[in-house]
Amino acid sequence: MAQDQIKSVQGTEDLFPDQWAHWRTLYATARRLFERYGYGEIRTPVFEDTRLFVKGTGETTDIVRKQMYSIPAGEGESITLCPEGTPSVVRAYLQANLHKQEPFQKFYYIGPMFRRERPQRGRLRQFHQLGVEAVGSGSPLLDAETIVLAVEVFRQVGLTDFGVVLNSIGCPECRPRYRDEVCRLLSDKRDELCEDCKDRLQRNVLRVLDCKEEGCRRLVAELPAVVEYLCDACAEHYEAVKAALGRAGVEFTEDPGLVRGLDYYVRTVYEIKHGGLGARDAICGGGRYDGLMELLGGPPLPCLGFAIGAEATILAMESELGSPADSAVGPAVYVVCFDEAARADAFELVQALRCAEVRADMDFEGRSAKSQMRMANKRGVRFCFLLGPDELQRREVTIKDMADGRQWSVPRDGAVQEVGRLLGAEEAEGAP
Ligand code: HAM
Repeated sequence: MAQDQIKSVQGTEDLFPDQWAHWRTLYATARRLFERYGYGEIRTPVFEDTRLFVKGTGETTDIVRKQMYSIPAGEGESITLCPEGTPSVVRAYLQANLHKQEPFQKFYYIGPMFRRERPQRGRLRQFHQLGVEAVGSGSPLLDAETIVLAVEVFRQVGLTDFGVVLNSIGCPECRPRYRDEVCRLLSDKRDELCEDCKDRLQRNVLRVLDCKEEGCRRLVAELPAVVEYLCDACAEHYEAVKAALGRAGVEFTEDPGLVRGLDYYVRTVYEIKHGGLGARDAICGGGRYDGLMELLGGPPLPCLGFAIGAEATILAMESELGSPADSAVGPAVYVVCFDEAARADAFELVQALRCAEVRADMDFEGRSAKSQMRMANKRGVRFCFLLGPDELQRREVTIKDMADGRQWSVPRDGAVQEVGRLLGAEEAEGAP
């Protein structure tokens, strides 16, 4: 590659036509299931007013402190490439005054997100999330519903080596008591904390529970569990979520150390982790965020949701299901010209095939007929249309069946119909 060639930005990925198979499966499965569970698609902009994330995602989060791509937008304003979808959905809901019409709404979104993280396997600076947000209900059944839904997506794309990790982090009533206790216990061992966690001790001590450093993890293991500090209402909610999951047949493990890296969560938090991913093993993260709507200037409506990480899920699919075979969708019919004079007619035929909903293509590089046949083979074409001088003169097309090599001639006017009938019959029989 020439030295001055411009390359992609670190932490971003290109995806070529032969790499889409798992992506297609994931997107189609998620869409189908999200809609089956009553979630409707919402699209919000790729960038938002920076204040939305500072306020919504939270000032003490790593995302806001270190990872946002923010751009000055004139007159002291700033816009930010969305690092997550949750605040945008709440903002859109409020802006459209949906709470005044039908407060309970369920949304889903699929799109790119941006975080300035240290790129590593499955961690990118532009990545993609498939998320759901349910607005306007505090029912614990809804917590369970979202978990069941995420699990169902993973099952239906063919994954088995994953597990749900669950915790409750309480509410603004009961959490301060726990936070004070953690702060007291960790302050005694301040010297043993990593530099980031020394800072977290001041800003938001519960972030320490999420630290991946060995020394901090040792200290965290000795802390009391947050569930021991839950108020009655939070404890009851948590029990109801677990009971509903049991009834739905979804297994889970409880992890008192799971606090999640975002400020808005209350009560239920969860992650779905996959065995094939190493240290950054979450393929989905979610939870309740009952205070966010009010924080963003709306009514006090309870909400919850999750986001599936697409790249992480694709890695999980590759580790369990292998890399898919070439997933490029090739033409079903290739029109081969044996004569330069045939090219204009070939162009017309290709167009007629496409109008008849047949995937069709021809050569645009001036290749020899032999090389065109080779190309047709390489692209897994089912039938070739051969156009030579004889065919041109007789206004015929020779159809070649690439599976068994048989070939026969038909009048040009009937060729599209004939191949359409053959392909249709194969599809009906479920043949490749
Ligand atoms: P999150 O845990 O930050 O939650 O992200 C959800 C998932 O997105 C992660 O489990 C991971 O698979 C994927 N992900 C996050 N960052 C990256 C990255 N840099 N590269 C690749 N994948 C990544 C949220 O974003 C919340 N908004 C989820 C939510 C929705 N909570 C309530 N509603």
